Amino acid sequence: MKKAKDLHLPFAWEDRQPVLHERLWYLPGKIDWSTFSFPGFQAPSFFANSKPVHIEYCSGNGSWIIDRAKRHPEINFLAVEQRFDRARKIWAKMHNAGLQNLIVALAEGHAMTKTFIPDSSVTQIYINFPDPWPKRRHAKYRIINPTFIAEMHRILADNGTVTIVTDDADYSTSIIKEMLAHAGFLSAFDAPYFAEASSEYGTSYFDELFRSKGKIIKLHQFRKQSIDKKS
Ligand SMILES: C[S@@+](CC[C@H](N)C(=O)[O-])C[C@H]1O[C@@H](n2cnc3c(N)ncnc32)[C@H](O)[C@@H]1O
Repeated sequence: MKKAKDLHLPFAWEDRQPVLHERLWYLPGKIDWSTFSFPGFQAPSFFANSKPVHIEYCSGNGSWIIDRAKRHPEINFLAVEQRFDRARKIWAKMHNAGLQNLIVALAEGHAMTKTFIPDSSVTQIYINFPDPWPKRRHAKYRIINPTFIAEMHRILADNGTVTIVTDDADYSTSIIKEMLAHAGFLSAFDAPYFAEASSEYGTSYFDELFRSKGKIIKLHQFRKQSIDKKS
């Protein structure tokens, strides 16, 4: 039985390097990543098969993606979380559940995507409760912004989807505005462009927290279109 504290980064802080170690893909910030060559999702050192790939950004302690990966062995999942204390919880749960269809990326999601993820290589993207940065002057830190939206469009296969769940009304409005401003995304829902998330979708630490406070959980879904097909 593994515990989160059993994950020791393979290098001391001053020697830290990007590495894939026991299904944890460590991409430390503020250092050069060019020493790591991404082998491709199908490579023996990665998923070692050609099943579809789904990415969850901002996985937190991973309860949502662990459940998904258990229920969908026909899919390969990549959980992306930038905090070490949270990524190692996902890592411990993944090993304890014996999941072969999950890899944890300990990384900042936008930079990892831009640097490594190939065009049209992912079929679904999920972001559950991204930090809302509610103060106007902090809104620039939100992960969902026009440059990241363009990156998500680039890595998705045709008809691939982005699903975003939030309890935050202001962030919901901004997500809808920015996703629909991209010529290559259409909403799966008519106006007001979200649905209330049902229990079948799965739950997470923040989902349970916000539901216990009586908040409405909004689920947004956008489908990739070839840019010339969107009228
Ligand atoms: C509000 S929590 C939600 C966690 C989880 N999805 C849930 O529903 O319980 C947001 C998480 O996103 C992570 N995060 C924020 N920005 C990120 C980024 N740019 N790349 C990767 N992780 C990020 C934070 O460290 C935090 O764990």
